[in-house]
Amino acid sequence: MAPFLFLLATLSLTTTLVNAYAPRPDCHPFFLDIPIEATSLDLDIIHVDNNIDAVDFAVDFDRWDAPNITSRISSSSNVSETFTIYAELCSPPGNGTVVKKDAIQILTHGAVFDHRYWDVDLKRSEYSYVQAALNAGYTVLNYDRLCNGLSDKPDAYTLGHGLNELQILRVLTEIVRAGTLNSHLHSGSTLPSTPAFDKVVHVGHSSGSQLTTALLTSYGNLSDAAILTGLLFADHLLPTATLALGFTFAPENNPVLFGGYPSGYIVPSDVGRIQAGFFHRVNDTDPAGFTDEALAYAESVKSPLATGEWLSLRGLLNVGPSAEFKGAVEFFAAEFDELVCDGDCRNDYDPAVLQVVYPHAEAVEVYLQPGAGHGLTLHRNASGGYGVMLDFLGKHGL
Ligand SMILES: *[C@@H]1O[C@H](CO)[C@@H](O)[C@H](O)[C@H]1NC(C)=O
Ligand SMILES: *[C@@H]1O[C@H](CO)[C@@H](O)[C@H](O)[C@H]1NC(C)=O
Ligand SMILES: *[C@@H]1O[C@H](CO)[C@@H](O)[C@H](O)[C@H]1NC(C)=O
Ligand SMILES: *[C@@H]1O[C@H](CO)[C@@H](O)[C@H](O)[C@H]1NC(C)=O
Ligand SMILES: *[C@@H]1O[C@H](CO)[C@@H](O)[C@H](O)[C@H]1NC(C)=O
Ligand SMILES: *[C@@H]1O[C@H](CO)[C@@H](O)[C@H](O)[C@H]1NC(C)=O
Repeated sequence: MAPFLFLLATLSLTTTLVNAYAPRPDCHPFFLDIPIEATSLDLDIIHVDNNIDAVDFAVDFDRWDAPNITSRISSSSNVSETFTIYAELCSPPGNGTVVKKDAIQILTHGAVFDHRYWDVDLKRSEYSYVQAALNAGYTVLNYDRLCNGLSDKPDAYTLGHGLNELQILRVLTEIVRAGTLNSHLHSGSTLPSTPAFDKVVHVGHSSGSQLTTALLTSYGNLSDAAILTGLLFADHLLPTATLALGFTFAPENNPVLFGGYPSGYIVPSDVGRIQAGFFHRVNDTDPAGFTDEALAYAESVKSPLATGEWLSLRGLLNVGPSAEFKGAVEFFAAEFDELVCDGDCRNDYDPAVLQVVYPHAEAVEVYLQPGAGHGLTLHRNASGGYGVMLDFLGKHGL
């Protein structure tokens, strides 16, 4: 799949971002080749090749009566593709102080950040969800979605969308269950042999939670429990989120970091847009709020996405009732989420609607993390929230 573009993107990232992507000692970095039956769409959307196109795209998407994705697809075809995906496998400390669980967690990040969203490199004991899960004894697979971070950057209009990301998440889950990650390594990557896992927990954020929801809907027996963060099917979901995020054409936004990205890859213009979309505080000492340092960190690790991915948020994926998912699911949302609830999630969602999606689930719970904004892992009290999430899993036998 587009080896030239992939190389370009990887080269610019690995040479200039070497520190930001430095793997941590308890995580093993590698690339996988994931074969899928991909869907190639012919999408009627504005192509983004500069910053002005990016605003045209946002205005077109956010109009209240904008056409949904179904009516923008003029044709589609099935193609066999193999995509190269970056991942890190992190193992809990093996020194006897932490009891290793028999479950693995697969983490799916949302839009605008890559796998580093889950492993915030500030004070890891306070901010890193990966660290919290390792301390609780889980093994963790933290990967970059197709189009994001160090993974392949396919064409943003035909292949870079949710249907293909769903197939990648499905295959990843199957090979993690089978213990066959090693037989899918990309040339040059290594990984110590990994065991099969009987129990898989899926954790998502935002559009990554939407992908996880689609996995539970279509392949519900592949998951034993799920935590869907930054997603509530709220009344005020994404009204003008595209404009609020101030998308620009990635190579124009930062030629040094994003110079290798092709047509249709977008990223928020500046730190103010990241703050508006992902952060909340009442003042700069708010213990549930965020530090200026965390905000600057977020801007420094922001990561472009494909226009097709953004568009597929509007109705491409089947997120209807799950016939097969029997595990426990927790909706873990921020109290003051700008993107999901237009700034305030209290009373902005219907718990009955969430139950309807999981008719056979062991439990469906909702938790609002007090004082936080959409970027839950980047707030001062992130670890308070991790305690709630990990307790939920423990309570349900994982
Ligand atoms: C998308 O729009 C078309 C045409 O207006 C409509 O028939 C269809 O029901 C819509 N689909 C969704 C999922 O809203
Ligand atoms: C693609 O594959 C799906 C599932 O196998 C099938 O339902 C669909 O008709 C195929 N689409 C095309 C355009 O062949
Ligand atoms: C075990 O590993 C953890 C995490 O690396 C560390 O915090 C702890 O001090 C270690 N304990 C011992 C007894 O070595
Ligand atoms: C899930 O269901 C599919 C289709 O029914 C089956 O092929 C697969 O083996 C099942 N997987 C698990 C983990 O039970
Ligand atoms: C900042 O907000 C917190 C939380 O609402 C409050 O307790 C504190 O008094 C405020 N501090 C200042 C200096 O206003
Ligand atoms: C931190 O989060 C936990 C879990 O949600 C909560 O119980 C606690 O009140 C929060 N602390 C603050 C200062 O908001």
